[in-house]
Amino acid sequence: MIVTIDGPAGTGKSTVAHLLAHRLGLEFLDTGAMYRALTLVVLEAGGDPTDASSVEALVSEADVRFDFEQDPPTLCLNGRAVGDAIRSTRVTNTVSVVAGHTPVRHAMVQAQRAIAAAHPHLVTEGRDQGSYVFPEADLKFYLDASVDIRAARRAEQLRAKGELVDLFRLRDEIEKRDRNDRSRPIGALVKPVDALVLDTGPLTVAEVVDCLETWARERMGTARDDTYSRARASCEVDTEGRRQVEVSAGVRA
Ligand code: DC
Repeated sequence: MIVTIDGPAGTGKSTVAHLLAHRLGLEFLDTGAMYRALTLVVLEAGGDPTDASSVEALVSEADVRFDFEQDPPTLCLNGRAVGDAIRSTRVTNTVSVVAGHTPVRHAMVQAQRAIAAAHPHLVTEGRDQGSYVFPEADLKFYLDASVDIRAARRAEQLRAKGELVDLFRLRDEIEKRDRNDRSRPIGALVKPVDALVLDTGPLTVAEVVDCLETWARERMGTARDDTYSRARASCEVDTEGRRQVEVSAGVRA
């Protein structure tokens, strides 16, 4: 069973995917961490992230893998756990450029498919997972939220880490990343046509996970109607024929 979660930065994909994987008894793959690790390689080597051939040369030597014995799986780069080094502001502001190079994408897509072959019961998140990497996934979700909401969430995370925050700058950075992520030739950020779309703006993380779990259990035929109220999660078709999930606050009955 492969469940994909696509969507732009700041929609909580990683947190939601990890929690959903737990609830469904599946494993969890954070593909953004893989692109972040390659970005760290480029930055640590003093490479130019915009130069495709030097990026390709640097990352072709990198060994990126996960330790699935840990929960969540820890990313190991050339045999060492990278920890929070891949979450620095520098990496965050550069990763979209590195992830835009076609050879980088080819390598990561191949690696992600190999991981799924070895771990076939997976919730995998990242902006191209349902649309490109796993077109035949059993279940696809697309998480969305306005730029303002995503910037506010990112600001909160940074403040919690004790960092100073310029909300306007943060908003600009998110918009720039969105533009980069949407315009790349391979693996561009798009809503998969067969994905269930959820606007996470008005929802807490728990509410988002409740909603996705409800849908996943329905699809898996293990719906727990005694615990979850379907009435509060309704699925409609939007003007472009996509299924749209609308959730009123709180799915759990
Ligand atoms: O989800 P995240 O913020 O950790 O992702 C970091 C970057 O990696 C983001 O700018 C886009 C890129 N990315 C990608 O291009 N494809 C993926 N499957 C996952 C992430």
